[in-house]
Amino acid sequence: MSPVSHDLKEQLSSLQHEAEEALAKALSLKEVEDLRIDFLGRKGRLTTIKRGVKDIAESERPLVGAFANEVSDAIEALIQKRLSSLKHEALEAQISQETLDVTMPGTFLPMGQLHPLTLVTEEIVNIFQGMGFSAIDDNVCPEVETEYYNFEALNFPPDHPARDMQDTFYTNVASNVLLRSQTSNAQIRYMECHQPPLRVVAPGRVYRNEEVSSRKGVMFHQIEGLLVDEKTTFSDLKGILHEFVRLFFGKERPTRFRNSFFPFTEPSAEVDVQCILCNGAGCRTCGHHGWLEILGAGMVDPNVLKGVGLDTDRYTGFAFGMGIERLAMLQYSIRDLRMFYTNDARFLRQFRGTD
Ligand code: DAH
Repeated sequence: MSPVSHDLKEQLSSLQHEAEEALAKALSLKEVEDLRIDFLGRKGRLTTIKRGVKDIAESERPLVGAFANEVSDAIEALIQKRLSSLKHEALEAQISQETLDVTMPGTFLPMGQLHPLTLVTEEIVNIFQGMGFSAIDDNVCPEVETEYYNFEALNFPPDHPARDMQDTFYTNVASNVLLRSQTSNAQIRYMECHQPPLRVVAPGRVYRNEEVSSRKGVMFHQIEGLLVDEKTTFSDLKGILHEFVRLFFGKERPTRFRNSFFPFTEPSAEVDVQCILCNGAGCRTCGHHGWLEILGAGMVDPNVLKGVGLDTDRYTGFAFGMGIERLAMLQYSIRDLRMFYTNDARFLRQFRGTD
């Protein structure tokens, strides 16, 4: 080997040695990075030495070049080793400073829960789903509705008192646009775009211009049910509603069907259950009658079916509608409907779902 080559190799070896010493003294990541630039950078010391390779005999260049690469790799490995030991030391220092007392109590994270009206709605929908009904998506049946869907298509005559300004909130969008006063609009909306057999329930908000009291509000919730098929009878309706009462109240409950009137059903009925507080003896909740009204129902009036283009010789159906607040009040013995809307956490916290 020529003296020039020999000298280059010497320089490379001592560079590696120097790097080793310098790195051992480096105390921060920044210092290590600076050393990397100094030794291996584009304008660093290794590059400078490597420039000398072109001055040596061609036959010796590969050997010296390979040695330069070895030195470069060795210095890089030293850098990595120093970096990881510095990081490790930093972590150790941090851990030894932080003391963790595993016996300390945890931080309480308040958890939200479903509103009692949501729970009761889900329970009612579940019961009907168990009997083959499906739930109509909320946005299929608008709360801002036209007189046609809220009244006319439901066979309300033009002079029916419920249409009166006193009961129904009309909007100033147009003279026939109102806030729906019942979920029965769902019947028309659904029948307009679906063919029998139909079995649906539709929960939602309704609005009435009522004096606010412990039993009435200007906004409340209803759930509508509709079944249309061939040969549907009133006894099918009774069977379904009896089963609903049994499942909702958790046990057999005396139930009675009273004659009633709704423009869109014929015959119509109102359904009462024996008062769940006094078991029929008479108390304040049931107005000393022993019975509580829970829903309205009936066979869909043929005029309504004709209005949506159904063949009334072939199809019959029944419908029912119930107030969700009322059922929730009975279920949980709540005496004032306004409790549902005041968002008092002490009240709301009492209702746990089945999760
Ligand atoms: N929509 C009625 C109301 O708000 C309740 C009702 C009665 C709904 C009879 C029905 C029904 O579907 O068949 O008072």
